[in-house]
Amino acid sequence: MRFFAVLSTVCAASIVACAPSRPAERATASGLLAGFSRGVSFGNALDAPREGEWGVVLSERHFAAAAAAGFDHVRLPVRFGAHAGSAAPFRIESAFLRRVDWAVDQALSHGLGVVVDFHHYDELTTDPDTHGSRFVALWTELASHYRDRPARVALELLNEPHDALTAPKWNALLADAVRAIRAVDPERLLIVDGPGWAAATALHELTLPPSDGRLVASFHCYEPLLFTHQGAEWMGPEYQTVGLVFPGPPPRPVEPVPAARSVDWVREWFHGYATAPAVDNPGGVGPIIAAFDRAQAFARGAHVPLYLGEFAAIDRAESPSRARWLRAVRTEAERRGIAWAYWDDGGRMRALDVERGTWLEPLRSALFE
Ligand code: GLC
Repeated sequence: MRFFAVLSTVCAASIVACAPSRPAERATASGLLAGFSRGVSFGNALDAPREGEWGVVLSERHFAAAAAAGFDHVRLPVRFGAHAGSAAPFRIESAFLRRVDWAVDQALSHGLGVVVDFHHYDELTTDPDTHGSRFVALWTELASHYRDRPARVALELLNEPHDALTAPKWNALLADAVRAIRAVDPERLLIVDGPGWAAATALHELTLPPSDGRLVASFHCYEPLLFTHQGAEWMGPEYQTVGLVFPGPPPRPVEPVPAARSVDWVREWFHGYATAPAVDNPGGVGPIIAAFDRAQAFARGAHVPLYLGEFAAIDRAESPSRARWLRAVRTEAERRGIAWAYWDDGGRMRALDVERGTWLEPLRSALFE
């Protein structure tokens, strides 16, 4: 008591001098991330050009079902870039922001944390030199908007930087965005995706601002991509071979589509998938473990915690294979103490039957049991 009185007198005299001597009171990235261990993204809703355009409209049922299943947070992909002015001061449409607030409130009122994820800023990834300053301005606006929200609200700077937003450009831009956010909100948990589509293989190219203390590095795991994205309409013709099982090798031969044979890495992958023993089959657990090893090596070097922000396998894959893959990734993350979020796009990668409020088996059990 007496010590406290003395301390507060000293602090009152020199608040600035006292603040740095009490860093233990500030939440760390790991401490904040503890409330975000098992999550689900509700994709293709607020990240569609207009909500509903891609077949998903968020409802209270999404959040109730997430809480009931045992998720502790949701990740909310939002296409802020399509709902803001194109000239300075780049104001975000108030009706859209109210809709995002409704979703944030839904999450919090169901006892869930929420990651607000800046998704599909395609103009930025195509032309970062033109859109970089707009991106930072939007984050300045968003940082003020979320400043008074509880620590259960985390912000993800940008989903899957790629294309012309190369690693050096992303590193420079994210430093500007973090600086802008920190000027407004020094405590918020910020999640930063690595370059190259947030693939684990490119995470070592990510440079995070030093000494922030509340940054998390994020990667996505869709390895092996030809299995998880088999027959996906949004992928190229070389991804259109279906009937791939997990793990390889398959018990019956799988005939690749002609386009798969004309792309070198895909042709080689199919050869290995058909012939290599399980232990080093490219369609087995090896690529998953390698991805986690690489992500973790980066995180250890950068002294930041990791977040597996997306993983999912398409419904074109047979159900037992899909569940085996999902369980393999989820348990690998948990074994290493890595927080995760399943990617539910309400379509081919959906796990929630929103009408019934139930989770599809065996996906649910692969995520939780
Ligand atoms: C990324 C894309 C999303 C896609 C998912 C799986 O998150 O933004 O649109 O569905 O990856 O491919």
